[in-house]
Amino acid sequence: MTLGTLYGIGVGPGDPEWMTVKAVRLLSACRHVCVPKARDLADSIALEIARPHLRPDTVVHQTTFLMTLDKALLKQSHAQAAEEILAILRGGEDCCFLTLGDPMLYSTYVYLLRELRGIEPRVTVETVPGITAFSAAAALTNFPVGEGKQPVTIVPASDDFALFRRALDCGGTVVLMKTGKRLQKVLDELEQRGLIGQAVFVSHAGQPQQKIETNLRRLRGGAENLGYLSILIIQAGPGCDADGDAGILPACDADVSSACDADVSPAPEDMGPANASGNDKDAGKMFATHAGETPATHEGGTPSPRTKELP
Ligand SMILES: C[S@@+](CC[C@H](N)C(=O)[O-])C[C@H]1O[C@@H](n2cnc3c(N)ncnc32)[C@H](O)[C@@H]1O
Repeated sequence: MTLGTLYGIGVGPGDPEWMTVKAVRLLSACRHVCVPKARDLADSIALEIARPHLRPDTVVHQTTFLMTLDKALLKQSHAQAAEEILAILRGGEDCCFLTLGDPMLYSTYVYLLRELRGIEPRVTVETVPGITAFSAAAALTNFPVGEGKQPVTIVPASDDFALFRRALDCGGTVVLMKTGKRLQKVLDELEQRGLIGQAVFVSHAGQPQQKIETNLRRLRGGAENLGYLSILIIQAGPGCDADGDAGILPACDADVSSACDADVSPAPEDMGPANASGNDKDAGKMFATHAGETPATHEGGTPSPRTKELP
């Protein structure tokens, strides 16, 4: 029996019109749609975004992903979700797994993919990129994410602010995700550094309850619960050395690594083969050119290289 294909679909952060033409086409062709089982509103949002594009006969499978710091339990939960999806693929049918934003940015999909490949290496996977929450936030506020040689650093907020502070120290643009209840502490940090006037805040981008704030002092006080789906973009300074060269990003030290471990997400070294080849040694080493373009041919008729392995 031929295995079906898994499509990892990024549905964008909110507005169904922000979905790619490809995502919409696949959803209209595929009968099986998988989403993480709703633990809270945030989890059901990917399904709500995609809903206008689903077929009338779509079967929605809600897969459970545990939220736990216990790595063994976490792995077991991902493996169970992978088995549920494999049952569909082994029946010869395709399946679309929905992800809020882009599938490759802080997404359960990445862990699912690793497990899936571990259990069934022959499985064909196609990941369809989606608009990330920070791209949407930047567009909604006309806030340039990257300019010239300035670095762009994306950090998830954690209770320990080490990563966030390090990112601000580096200058350039800092994208802060997963702020949630830490918002007031974040605002304190920005105020202390004189950066509060150089940042924007967006929650529920593209959704009916969307909130945009370009004067962050108005968020002080915390009367409003702005929720988990919020993001800040901060212009933290030039981020260049005297010659105008970027590249001052310091290496992640022991303190910062332990801050990373506090999150429930597995550390990068645990991630395994979520890369195109499914081969562990290739993880984190891909370099793509002309991504998404129709493969062209050289004069001699050989396909031009679109994806190269870095040395
Ligand atoms: C698990 S991550 C998912 C990121 C997603 N894969 C992406 O590409 O943006 C969840 C975080 O993404 C951000 N986020 C997702 N959707 C958002 C939205 N509609 N508005 C603002 N922030 C959002 C928030 O920072 C939230 O804490």
